[in-house]
Amino acid sequence: MSVIISPSLLSCDFANIQRDVEMLNNSSCDWLHIDVMDGVFVPNISFGLPVIEAMNRHAKKTMDVHLMIQNPGDYIDAFHKVGADILTVHYEACTHLHRTIQQIKEKGMKAGVALNPHTPVDVLKEIILDIDLVLIMSVNPGFGGQKFIQNALQKVKRTAELIKSSGSSAIIEVDGGVNLETGAALVQHGAHALVAGSFVFNSENPTQTIADLKQL
Ligand code: DX5
Ligand code: ZN
Repeated sequence: MSVIISPSLLSCDFANIQRDVEMLNNSSCDWLHIDVMDGVFVPNISFGLPVIEAMNRHAKKTMDVHLMIQNPGDYIDAFHKVGADILTVHYEACTHLHRTIQQIKEKGMKAGVALNPHTPVDVLKEIILDIDLVLIMSVNPGFGGQKFIQNALQKVKRTAELIKSSGSSAIIEVDGGVNLETGAALVQHGAHALVAGSFVFNSENPTQTIADLKQL
């Protein structure tokens, strides 16, 4: 199976969201990665529900929503209503992670759990059979354009081992500092899906850049 590419709209031109979403519709990407930041869980604020609803009006691909917010469990219905297909919450932001995952799945969405760079993969042991996706952060969440943290490669490998030994069907997505070089290494270590923001949107030809990533 070819690698899933999920360009991050955090790096799009917010004055031309429709144009950029249509570019992604016509590209070989699989998902649209949507980063929600609340200024509390991470030191940055991105965009919220009305903007996602507007993106969804034009989007023809899977809406892959990454919540970098405190108490994500309070907003599951709201993100479902604006079109999220995959809803990923941070392990570090959930006291009752199991309940939150069940609530996401009850709405018919795929449920993901994201791990910050310092959070060990082992914390997923008791939840791995319940989730559809593990999001390994290869930067500290909050900003696009940061440098890839090399340790993410070993975390991807450990996640792949956990998935295999448990019999889980979760897929592994990686987010932060992805380019052709880090992307290739991630795929080699077992990543199934790659998020790329600045590498796609700062390139001269984003459609071609996506096609290049898709070849990894
Ligand atoms: C960071 C976000 C990422 C971000 C990645 O907190 O979760 O999705 O857009 O940006 P790049 O690909 O530029 O590192
Ligand atoms: Zn993200």
